[in-house]
Amino acid sequence: MLILAIESSCDETSAAVCEFGDGAPIIRSNIIASQIETHKLYGGVVPEIASRAHCDAISGITYEALDTAGVTLTDIDAVAVTALPGLIGALLVGVNFAKSLAFANNIPLVPVNHIRGHIAANYYVHPELKPPFLALVASGGHTSLIRVSDYTTCETVGRTRDDAIGEAFDKVGRVMGLPYPGGAEMDRLASLGNSGAVKFPSAAVVGDNLDFSFSGLKTAVINHLHNLEQKGLPIPGEDIAASFTATVTSSVVKKLTMAVEQTGLTDIVIAGGVAANSHLRAALQSFCDRRRLRFYMPPRSLCGDNAAMIAAQGYYEYLAGVRADTSLNAKATG
Ligand code: KG4
Ligand code: ZN
Repeated sequence: MLILAIESSCDETSAAVCEFGDGAPIIRSNIIASQIETHKLYGGVVPEIASRAHCDAISGITYEALDTAGVTLTDIDAVAVTALPGLIGALLVGVNFAKSLAFANNIPLVPVNHIRGHIAANYYVHPELKPPFLALVASGGHTSLIRVSDYTTCETVGRTRDDAIGEAFDKVGRVMGLPYPGGAEMDRLASLGNSGAVKFPSAAVVGDNLDFSFSGLKTAVINHLHNLEQKGLPIPGEDIAASFTATVTSSVVKKLTMAVEQTGLTDIVIAGGVAANSHLRAALQSFCDRRRLRFYMPPRSLCGDNAAMIAAQGYYEYLAGVRADTSLNAKATG
């Protein structure tokens, strides 16, 4: 079957046409219009600007996805749309556009949770991956450890209590003078630095829980940068990026170790924008190798927000009978 998916939860307008059936799923098109250049001017995503940019882009992006896939709306079996969580104004654009498209053309409409979509990006490249498994969703808005019991049922077993992991990368990057979003550049700088140069506090919350707190770590790095600045000392950007990244990865490995022990799960998945981080990918791969766990990660091209991931989760929601009518609304949390 062919699914047309629409994603507009934050600062990327995306539409994809994907094919599902007996074999591995196929991405026929996955068009992404990024608003980063606009939000860069403000050092972060401005929700009102994001909503307006989605309005401008969504129709063109959707027809481009259909054209690239070589299909028309009459070939589409279901429309999947991100309905939660995200910026409410941004989500509303995608939800209302998808509703109109689905009902005007008599196509079933399937609402999808954005976080489950991130996880589902893995199904394109790892068709052998099947629930149950443990997923770490690490993005600009979310940091969660999730027990995925089947394709449409999951439970959050650990979460950040304050900043998301990507938010910490971006805020540290901003104080270091990097353009928004700083995550990818921090990754590059970290490869050039000494990860033992500065000792920062762990982001793993103390105790028998699976939670993180990135706010304390972020503040410690920012204070360190301000101290150097006040003393007129040079900022060793590479060493700070490397030390910060090493602290992030060791905090993640610590809670993942506990999560594996608590859940007994042996298949580990990462997803979300920060899953593109080369140091996190390497650290989790070696953790899983040491423990003889199976490790799955999406290609970098499917880590950030995109509509193909929404199609993948939409397929399983469709099979489970999930449908929406014209009363479908967007939700900021979920
Ligand atoms: O999943 P995503 O595209 O959007 C949300 O759902 O939030 O994630 C975006 C986040 C940003 O914070 C960005 O800086 C971060 O992913 N990111 C990275 C890397 N590439 C993107 N963080 C660390 N290292 C990277 N290579
Ligand atoms: Zn996302």
